[in-house]
Amino acid sequence: MAAVREIIKLGDPLLRQQAIRVRRFGAHLNRLLDDMANTMYAAQGCGLAAPQIGVSKCLVVADDGHGLVELINPVIVKAEGEASEVEYCLSVPKIGGEVTRAQSIVVEALDREGNSQIFEATGFKARILQHEIDHLHGRMFVDVMTREVRDEDKDDE
Ligand code: NI
Repeated sequence: MAAVREIIKLGDPLLRQQAIRVRRFGAHLNRLLDDMANTMYAAQGCGLAAPQIGVSKCLVVADDGHGLVELINPVIVKAEGEASEVEYCLSVPKIGGEVTRAQSIVVEALDREGNSQIFEATGFKARILQHEIDHLHGRMFVDVMTREVRDEDKDDE
């Protein structure tokens, strides 16, 4: 059964490392992806990158409300437009921040079998994927936010 892993928080140096590309497929990887999805859902998040559970590998899971997607070694190959929204992170308690990101993106990634797949995403889903892929490069939204939002402001949204 998939486990709920501990989510590490801003300040932990593991969140600042460049994650390593996945080369080995199989049971261990599948277990890790299952744990990541389980951990994301348990925390009521919409995205999680492996470094957030202390595993420095290029793995992302996300669910924008339309189903789980898994991205192994994701690379953004196309980005268009610009949009600013407030976003949050499971590794950053209490604050959110307004971040400008591409409005739509195309991402190349591998699936569990190592097959290449293409994701096209726009709006909220594009934002989640850009946020999570940033984690793989040690980047956090607090580095690029244009405005900080405190939790107590949440009620105003
Ligand atoms: Ni995050």
